[in-house]
Amino acid sequence: MKLLVINGPNLNMLGIREPGIYGSESYAALEAFIRRVCDEHGAEVEIFQSNHEGAIVDRIQAAWGNTDGIVINPAAYTHTSVAILDALKAVSIPAVEVHLSDVSAREPFRHISYAGMACETTFAGYGFDGYRMAVEYLLRRLG
Ligand code: DQA
Repeated sequence: MKLLVINGPNLNMLGIREPGIYGSESYAALEAFIRRVCDEHGAEVEIFQSNHEGAIVDRIQAAWGNTDGIVINPAAYTHTSVAILDALKAVSIPAVEVHLSDVSAREPFRHISYAGMACETTFAGYGFDGYRMAVEYLLRRLG
């Protein structure tokens, strides 16, 4: 089972950026958490982070034909990017959306998720645990 975890802009600043919202743990800690969860389940994982919309589109396209499931936190691009939505639809790999914070309880502009329209489900507001939930959802779904 091969999973791809994609994290969007500013998530590399975890631990520094708005700790009251995103917590005090670093991006390296998030990566270690995701790797631990995947190891526990014997799943292979690649973790990709970019601050660039086109790089995220390129990575999604490159997953076609070699990846069983995608976990994606598109960060701010969640609320703006039709290109990421279209890339997810183009590859039609089962995808799950994750947000560290509960976007539905924040500013109205965060209530729209384009990428979410191509995802089977969303885990938002559970911090790092949302990634565990997403990985476990995909592993159940993919059998
Ligand atoms: C986020 C929520 C987004 O609205 C925001 O732009 C982010 C992070 C989250 O994980 O809670 O950068 O995706």
